[in-house]
Parts: sequence; C-alpha cells; structure tokens
Amino acid sequence: MSEKPVVLVGRKLPEAVEARLARDYQPRLNPDDRLYTGEELIALAEGAAAVLPCHTEHLTAELIAQLPQSVRAICNYSVGVDHVDLAAAKARGIIVTNTPDVLSDATAEIAILLMLGAARRASEGERLVRSATWKDWSPSFMVGRQVTGKRLGVVGMGRVGQVVARRARGFEMEIHYHNRRRLDAAAEAGAVYHESLDSLLGVSDVLSLNCPSTPESKGLMNAERIAKLPDGAIVINTARGALVNDEDLIAALASGKLAAAGLDVYNNEPDIHPGYRELENVFLLPHIGSATLETRDAMGFRALDNLDAIFAGREPGDRVA
Ligand code: DGY
Repeated sequence: MSEKPVVLVGRKLPEAVEARLARDYQPRLNPDDRLYTGEELIALAEGAAAVLPCHTEHLTAELIAQLPQSVRAICNYSVGVDHVDLAAAKARGIIVTNTPDVLSDATAEIAILLMLGAARRASEGERLVRSATWKDWSPSFMVGRQVTGKRLGVVGMGRVGQVVARRARGFEMEIHYHNRRRLDAAAEAGAVYHESLDSLLGVSDVLSLNCPSTPESKGLMNAERIAKLPDGAIVINTARGALVNDEDLIAALASGKLAAAGLDVYNNEPDIHPGYRELENVFLLPHIGSATLETRDAMGFRALDNLDAIFAGREPGDRVA
C-alpha cells in the first residue's frame, strides 16, 4: 500500500477533524495552536503533499514561491481566501480550495448579533452593569435605535448575505441588496435589487457587508460612501476588515453621522485600529463569525472532502484556483 500523503496543518483543528485526518493522512498537526511564521510554514511543508491553513496564515506570492515542490494543494479551513495569493498558487500549479456554505448560518447569526448589539447599545450597557456604574433608569437612559421595520442593505448577496436577509425578515426589515448579478426571484424573496452600490447606500438604515475581500473591494466603505448612507445609519461587518477604511468609519462614528457600527472583522487583526476602542457606539467582537462547535467541525470536514477529492484524482468541490 502506498504511503499516506503528508498534510501540514496550520492551526489546531477540532478533535473529530484531526481524528479523520490521522486516519487518512500523515498530518503534521499544531497541538499548541501557535501561529507559524512564513519561514516556519515553508520549513514544515518539506515533503508535504498539501497544506491546510486558516485565514491567519498569509500565503503571499513570496511564500508560495518558496513552498517545497511536493506541495500540490492548499485546502483552506475558511471560506475567505484573501490570505492566499491565488494567482501565485495557480502559477505553481497548486490547487486551492475553501469551505463555503457550512459557515453561512453561524456567520449570519453574528451579523444579527452585531446589528442588535450596535443598535441597542449592548456593549455600552454591559459595561455599565459590569462596572457597577449603572445608577438609575429614566426615559432617556440608554436609548438606542429600533431595527424592526427598518431597511437593511446587504452588500454582497451571496450565501451569507442571503441568510442574513432571511433572518432580518424576522424583524420585518425591508431587504435591499447590491450584488455583481441580480438573483433570481426565488432567491431574492422580495428583496429590492440595486444595480449600483450608491443607490443601495441611500436606502440602508442598516448596512451589512457580506462581500469578499478583493483588491476591488478594498476600502469600499470610505468617507465618500459613508456620506451616502442616511444620517444615523448603522454599519455591520462580518466579512473582512479590508472592506472598511478605519479612519473614515471612526470619524463617521465620532461625528454622529453613523449611529453605531458592529464589527467582527478588522484590518490588521488582532491589532485593530485603537480608535475603535475609544468609541462607545461600536460593538466589537473578535472574528467569531464561524465560531460554533457545529460549524468548526463542518469547516474541517469540508476541507477534508476537498483534500480527499484531490488525492483521489477527482475535481474538489470547492476549488477556487
Ligand atoms: C472564514 O472562513 O473566512 C472566516 O472568516 C474564518 O476564517
């Protein structure tokens, strides 16, 4: 029997996923869950047939060029692939896959949590209670914004965007969206399509960012675009920090142009722009969109399904390069 392929695993994965990996491959695991440097990744990949990274490993063109020749595939444990230079992988003939679908529900839950948390000043309120500085109740105390019946604008009506829209309908929100292409009527489910982002911005009481991070979408939410939102709008981001110009978002939150923001993802995580910490009207979470037991297992199994297909000589279901 031929030797099982060696797979370099970037981070510590759920137990059931590592057990399946050990059954079918020779995994190089990371039990301490330490974030490897680029040089470490290159050295550890020696003799590996595949790498299984998370979005925390930056597989730049420079790093990919130095990966050992043995590496045939990069099977990501993530739906986002902005941490991988896809062109460089393609140029080296390395197959790249991601894990779509399985994290849409979990991420949409966090989008709704951010929307409610931002609109209803949840972290501000929690800080008051925890710090024992909550003194009184009055009609003007901790007044936030109601989301029920408001207009939700979704930028990027892909898998996650569509689930966010479905959940938001539970709050009787009117759904508007902007997407590269218009969805069919069944998927649209009454949502209003906006061909231009500017048109969507003008009607978005709450704006949810759900599009991928690409060179084109970098800094999408800048001062010019934020100015097009209704005064007192709320911006939520569960996609990638790169979609936002931090200085501009912070300025709009500080000036009151925006009522609030809810963020789960940031530029330069985990060293986020310090300006966010100084604002009361931003609800901050530490990139936990997919962090449920169910989803983290499912992401791992999806990555392994892709790996299995590649080593069985089949086309992987989630090939992105
Ligand atoms: C993803 O899968 O892209 C999530 O952001 C977690 O990595």
